[in-house]
Amino acid sequence: MQSLAVSLDARLRALTGVDPEMRPATKPEFGHFQSNVALRLAKQEGKPPREVAQRIVAELDVADLCEPLEVAGPGFINFRLKPEVLAAAASEVLADPHHGIAVVDEPQRIVIDYSAPNVAKQMHVGHLRTTIIGDCFNRVLSALGHTVIPQNHIGDWGTQFGMLIEQVLFEGIDAGQLTLAEADALYKRAAAHFKDDEAFATKARARVAMFQGGDEESLAIWRQLVDISKPAFNEAYRRLGVVLTDDDLAGESTYNDDLPVLVAELEASGAAVVDQGALCVFVDGFDAPLIVRKSDGGFGYATTDLAAIRRRVREIHADRIIYVTDARQAGHFKQVFAAARKAGYLPDDVVAEHVGYGMVLGDDGRPFKTRDGSAATLSSLLDAAEEEAAPNIALAAIKYADLSNGLQKDYVFNASRMVATTGDTGPYLQYAHARICQILRKAEAEGVAWERVTVLAEPAEQQLALLLTRFGEVVDEVARDLTPHKLCTYLYELAGQFSSFYEQCPVLKSDGDVRASRLALCAATKDVLAAGLDLLGIDAPERM
Ligand code: ARG
Repeated sequence: MQSLAVSLDARLRALTGVDPEMRPATKPEFGHFQSNVALRLAKQEGKPPREVAQRIVAELDVADLCEPLEVAGPGFINFRLKPEVLAAAASEVLADPHHGIAVVDEPQRIVIDYSAPNVAKQMHVGHLRTTIIGDCFNRVLSALGHTVIPQNHIGDWGTQFGMLIEQVLFEGIDAGQLTLAEADALYKRAAAHFKDDEAFATKARARVAMFQGGDEESLAIWRQLVDISKPAFNEAYRRLGVVLTDDDLAGESTYNDDLPVLVAELEASGAAVVDQGALCVFVDGFDAPLIVRKSDGGFGYATTDLAAIRRRVREIHADRIIYVTDARQAGHFKQVFAAARKAGYLPDDVVAEHVGYGMVLGDDGRPFKTRDGSAATLSSLLDAAEEEAAPNIALAAIKYADLSNGLQKDYVFNASRMVATTGDTGPYLQYAHARICQILRKAEAEGVAWERVTVLAEPAEQQLALLLTRFGEVVDEVARDLTPHKLCTYLYELAGQFSSFYEQCPVLKSDGDVRASRLALCAATKDVLAAGLDLLGIDAPERM
């Protein structure tokens, strides 16, 4: 369904040949939209703006949607939608099972690389953000009909396993019996041991080569560490209510067998060259090359990312690849994408995007720590929020706080403020939804039925209807620009507009067609709030 705003914009654009910059009207007396296009064209044409505006008004054919157009002030054009047109559009939002979200004509295959915790380490606050943001992208893009392929690029390989395996052997423990918290502690002991004991460090380094070379004893311990980590990750996903499963796992180790092949391809094509013993891809704009194979023969994080792109294009046939990690990895991905393009692994028609997010801060403005001063794990954050509210409300609070600002910004984790049911919070939106459910329950109990929006006499009703018809457009924008905060802002405005409507327009106390129409507006608002919250990964309880 094309929204009314989009239709008007398109017609005015076709007539004038420029972006008409349609804006919501600032006051009800100005109608619903306003364009200043005449003022801009007048400058170019050297004519009085009002004259240009009059000409546009005479030529623009929008009589099916709008009341006769008005020229206001210095030459603004005001658009007032016909109440029956708005009513029909709002009714459609209610009747449409997707509430105005239109499935795309050409669905894409979209890989989203998110969450990606590291084996034998507890998930930390950074993983909270990538998991929540990636889940939201997954929901939004899937709702538009795209095929989303989540790729959980867990850190299940790499040099840290050298010291971990060596520490397990040194302590003589059974790695298969560890909890993830215990593995995390093992990790810390191994790191300290590595730092303090040169002989241990040497053994750990040698262990990396042994393990990556397929030594069975090393691999057995590695497998145990992977096996104890996965259920712990899944438990975190369950608690967060995100849709990731074991089927989405494609950790670093997935690409092991590809690495020698990739190296051979890069050498053969000349995309990579040997420099000071290391195999490197030089890309413009970077001081240092991307190292594909270190001088000691080892492969690193970037090599695996190149291999992952290669598969995502060749085997998964991705049209778009989205990476969600903290903003500090921006340079890494920029270089990996450039190297992949140079190597021919990433054709021009495949879009690769890195979405970097900011840090989670404590009240003191420093990276969030738990009360006892230790670095915050994901579960400690959830615990902190659950001290303030029931789990589904705590989760709404966290997710909304995470998504409602520009992703690049840092945000302060203040559990008691985030769970408040007033202000721009997740629980406020849940509460607005539950309140409408209550109104509708009351109507049902009184035997009052509703079906369509038919009467829209009051400005507050019209504004609410208009906002409802914009839902699909907002979702489109979020999918294109990967900006969930715009959906948050929209839902917050919708809840606010509903409050104004409810204050100004009696619902259950009115009669006949007006009452039925207003109840239909309530029902459509409820549906859009629930659908919007669902896209954010937030549930919408019917009672609170
Ligand atoms: N495991 C990494 C970390 O915890 C994130 C991996 C992100 N994805 C990727 N393809 N590099 O920082």
